[in-house]
Amino acid sequence: MPMTSMKVAPQELKADGGELFSAEFLALAANTIHQAIKTDGFFILENALSVPAIEAILEDVDNHGFAINRNWAHGVYAEHQYYLTHMLACSRAFTRLATHPKLFEICDGILGHDYRLKAMRYYETYGKHHMQWHTDNKTDRGFAHIPGLIFIVYLADVDDGEFQYVRASHNWSGERAYSDYGDEEIEKNHGKDIVSFKAPRGTVIIYDTYGIHRARPVASRTFVRKSLFFQVDSKMDSAEPILLNPAYIDSIDAKTAQYLGFGLPAEYKVFPNTTIKNLQWGRVGLRMVSQWLAYRMARSLFDIMPHNIKKIIKARARRT
Ligand SMILES: [Fe+2]
Repeated sequence: MPMTSMKVAPQELKADGGELFSAEFLALAANTIHQAIKTDGFFILENALSVPAIEAILEDVDNHGFAINRNWAHGVYAEHQYYLTHMLACSRAFTRLATHPKLFEICDGILGHDYRLKAMRYYETYGKHHMQWHTDNKTDRGFAHIPGLIFIVYLADVDDGEFQYVRASHNWSGERAYSDYGDEEIEKNHGKDIVSFKAPRGTVIIYDTYGIHRARPVASRTFVRKSLFFQVDSKMDSAEPILLNPAYIDSIDAKTAQYLGFGLPAEYKVFPNTTIKNLQWGRVGLRMVSQWLAYRMARSLFDIMPHNIKKIIKARARRT
């Protein structure tokens, strides 16, 4: 798709996120990142994502929020977490980030030439959420041998409930045919290898999906952690289905098309699988319910009015 010259509205420029990455991240040799991932299982760099990019993504998340019966992509609540999965439909800045050549360079060195975007999300984790130690080399049916990388970006400072990784566990976890590990087993046998990632917003963490990791549990009810997640792996015949706003992609080459899964099956279930039952108290606010009730009552009254009165009301509504 060739780029055409067009006028870009100011709000579009803002939503673009500007220079996405810091000069330090862009200048870092891909080989340095590959070595860190191969040795420790992870790479981390603070201030890798720029402030304008963070702000653009958070604004896009706010604009899509949570809704009932709204005919566009929006977020969901899953008990102690909020997810906005369809970021490629909601955020130009995220789309630029997730398809950036720097990320392809990183994936090339670890995954070779064939890989695709498996899953993505913006997510918020609240207090009381408990995540088990686990690996991510699995399908939606469980453990599997699939090389992959996960990118996590902190969009707010994280000084609690941080991401944790068992250093170099990607080298041996594949010998076990399971993905979940108990807290006690990890503390007792691998406590000295646990690395905790308390870090400021803009931090990028890239890790091997075979590594054992979790988010450290937080007891506080008021805690919120805001992050981006996307997973890239070598299994070409399935992924979560992607909703993409094509307006966010200026041009698309064969590599990007394969990465996004054009023409490839996408039969995984979108994570998390939620229904209205997963909404905790307070998520559907009284304001939302009272606005709905007021509108439905007014609408029912309007529907039974004589035709000429309806015309007068419509004319007045047009004038206001
Ligand atoms: Fe994970």
